Amino acid sequence: MVTDTRVIPVILLGTGNVGGTLLRLIQETRATAARRKGLELRLIGLGDISGLLYDPAGLPDDLLQAAQRAAEQRQTLDVLPGIRPLEDLPGLLDTGVVLADVTAAKSTGGLLQSAVAAGGGAVMANKNPLTGLWQDTRLLFERPQVRYECTVGAGLPVIRSLKHLLDTGDQAVQIEGCLSGTLGYLCAGLEQGTPYSQMVAQARSLGYTEPDPRDDLSGHDVARKALILARTAGWPLEMSDLVVEPLYPTAMAGLSVDEFLAAAHQLDDEYASRFNDAGSEENTLRYVAQVGPEGGTVGLAPVAKASPLGALHGPANYIAFHTRYYSDLPLVISGPGAGPLVTAAGVLDDLLDLASDLA
Ligand SMILES: NC(=O)c1ccc[n+]([C@@H]2O[C@H](COP(=O)([O-])OP(=O)(O)OC[C@H]3O[C@@H](n4cnc5c(N)ncnc54)[C@H](OP(=O)(O)O)[C@@H]3O)[C@@H](O)[C@H]2O)c1
Repeated sequence: MVTDTRVIPVILLGTGNVGGTLLRLIQETRATAARRKGLELRLIGLGDISGLLYDPAGLPDDLLQAAQRAAEQRQTLDVLPGIRPLEDLPGLLDTGVVLADVTAAKSTGGLLQSAVAAGGGAVMANKNPLTGLWQDTRLLFERPQVRYECTVGAGLPVIRSLKHLLDTGDQAVQIEGCLSGTLGYLCAGLEQGTPYSQMVAQARSLGYTEPDPRDDLSGHDVARKALILARTAGWPLEMSDLVVEPLYPTAMAGLSVDEFLAAAHQLDDEYASRFNDAGSEENTLRYVAQVGPEGGTVGLAPVAKASPLGALHGPANYIAFHTRYYSDLPLVISGPGAGPLVTAAGVLDDLLDLASDLA
């Protein structure tokens, strides 16, 4: 039981699936955080694409609850009173203020770096700020006031396990895994003989893919996770160091979503024969990311059915760290690698962990 409560001001960007859930969790766990950790995460700012709510004394509870309802109804924050332009944000970053990015925006890297440079901290579930050129992102990997656990494997303790190994003198040798639940689901269906076009349509209707399934099928999202793992391991790779195999031909990149879905049956035979050729009693294919100090590959790879990767049949993620300490058998982390609740809980854990350090 802790008696003194330290207040950590937080500005949260993003009120979508993850942001809306995080908003609720921060309010629900307020008493527990004070009792168990002596910390209060005080939301002083909340932003989305439409603007920013801001009060340096803390946003009032009734406004936070209204923002949560707006998020649940998919409304932007400008339906609420007191919204300010997002351009005000850089001037509000200050010592001790944590900026949390749970958007999918491409443009927040500079803001997160400013938050750290101002003597505060940065937390993100958004992969974009970490996957640009190394020279533009290295500060976010090298400064201790940054947390980004949920960028790989959502709420699974992937980044912190890797950092724990490095902090205790270990060295990564190779990292491999299945980092996309969507592509795991696709491979398991193809292995069973379900046509490619049917699996893509099914994954999309279950909400496993982005609205444009090519965002998942391109492999780019997996590559971004592999790059984050590599950079965390101490390998300053660029995206161009990864060879990525997309699961559709570039000729189909220019089609509209509907045109792509209608044409996807043209790929049924190709993927059926790839899985047939690779498949046997013992082997199958999985969409695997492999990365080491010099680079890596992301694409379909043969695996033994009896191996952990071959045994994955649903949207679970699997990450194996081959290191100096874990040389005979890798250190393995596996479990659900997506979902708003586990992701929001992971971001909350990052916030509390960083808040403990800042306090
Ligand atoms: N969902 C998961 O399971 C999961 C797991 C791991 C990581 N992530 C990552 O977490 C992030 C959020 O995911 P999500 O599922 O919550 O996405 P989402 O539902 O699309 O929400 C994104 C939010 O960010 C806002 N936004 C977009 N661009 C912005 C900008 N430039 N400035 C401020 N706000 C902006 C959006 O506002 P508008 O709606 O007005 O555009 C929306 O509120 C993504 O980067 C995703 O890759 C998600």
